[in-house]
Amino acid sequence: MTADRSPRTLAIDVGGTGLKMIVLDPNGAAIEERHRVPTPRPATPRAVLEALRGLIGTQPPFDRVSVGFPGVVHEGVVATAPNLDGDWHGFKLANALSTLTGKPVRVANDADVQGYADIEGRGVEMVLTLGTGLGSALFVDGHLVPNLELAHHPYDGKRTYEDYVGKRALEKVGKKRWRRRVGKMIEHVEPIWNYRLLHLGGGNAKLLHAEGLPANVLVHSNEAGVLGGIALWKD
Ligand code: BGC
Repeated sequence: MTADRSPRTLAIDVGGTGLKMIVLDPNGAAIEERHRVPTPRPATPRAVLEALRGLIGTQPPFDRVSVGFPGVVHEGVVATAPNLDGDWHGFKLANALSTLTGKPVRVANDADVQGYADIEGRGVEMVLTLGTGLGSALFVDGHLVPNLELAHHPYDGKRTYEDYVGKRALEKVGKKRWRRRVGKMIEHVEPIWNYRLLHLGGGNAKLLHAEGLPANVLVHSNEAGVLGGIALWKD
């Protein structure tokens, strides 16, 4: 590896359905295609670590690691993981991956990481990711408010936002009704958060029809889930 090619970042996106990773150059550009394996079930810490170990072994050399994790994370330690299995609370994910790779590791919530790749860095920007779960992130002039969790907020008394637009809901009600539900959710959140822009990402964002959405809503590719990883090292 030549000096001008480092440091390279291995960016990992731990999803409820897939584990994805890519190596980024110092400017955050991908040096090859993103790799993906299905998330093992049950997705216990041990099983996920094992699956990550296998995929990491196929990656080009890297100097540091960024992880987007589908739950609340404080300083590399997992607090919640609603769409994974087993006991993740208190799991020292950054330490475990650092031991596995021999490299420094930074971990953040998956929607927070994705958001870094989507935002413009001006005013209030909200990010909602439509995947297995519903991810949410908030940025003010490019600065993250970490671990915003809209997913588990009650939507209509009985159901939460995640129950309403998560993967299980999509499978149950079909694309057409699910799209309408996403529209309703936007009608709910817009007057509360008063964002300048709302960025929609995650694996199911591709099912949306951008032309039917308000003008301040942008739809992004799920690649942002790994591309945002570079931002965890900008300090
Ligand atoms: C979790 C969030 C996560 C989202 C998307 C939700 O269930 O609570 O922390 O960002 O799923 O993975």
